[in-house]
Amino acid sequence: MTSFDSRTFRDTLGQFLTGVTIVTAAAQDGTPLGLTVTSFPSVSLDPPLVLFYIDKKAGSHDGMVSAPGYAVHLLGGDQADLSNRFAARGIDRFAGLTYTRGLYGAPILPGAMALLECRTVQRVDAGDHTILIGQVERLDPGNRTRKPLGYLRGRYTAVAD
Ligand SMILES: Cc1cc2nc3c(=O)[nH]c(=O)nc-3n(C[C@H](O)[C@H](O)[C@H](O)COP(=O)(O)O)c2cc1C
Repeated sequence: MTSFDSRTFRDTLGQFLTGVTIVTAAAQDGTPLGLTVTSFPSVSLDPPLVLFYIDKKAGSHDGMVSAPGYAVHLLGGDQADLSNRFAARGIDRFAGLTYTRGLYGAPILPGAMALLECRTVQRVDAGDHTILIGQVERLDPGNRTRKPLGYLRGRYTAVAD
């Protein structure tokens, strides 16, 4: 039993300011997978663990969950277009993009503010999402003076110092 509706729940959570990431992985046949993700808290320093959660209805859910690892691209303030591309439905999100392959074959997009490459160590069923906990095996800390892309109340927002 809950005393609130799902709209109120979403609106309440939407008041928590987050950064924006693109998470990528390779499907078993090598097909590149990727989606825009704001559910990216840091979890543990020792060992270095992060996580994100993916909607069970997402087209890339099964591929992401079965992949041995994933790459998290932290987006800079000038990358809202890339975020929109990786949230769009019914398009080939990688069309025309140049990328390399990182650990476990995950596509590595150029130009991210920072990058973390992870081995998936735990998959947790969580309601309508699956939580993928990853151990960070490689990272690019990027340029620490660059401004990040923020997300608040359903919109991108500039993050001030
Ligand atoms: C700012 C933003 C944040 C998002 N964060 C998540 C997230 O944390 N987890 C998730 O599963 N989908 C998230 N999405 C939705 C996905 O990016 C994507 O649109 C969705 O998975 C639909 O993909 P599909 O066409 O493959 O089904 C987010 C979308 C936006 C615009």
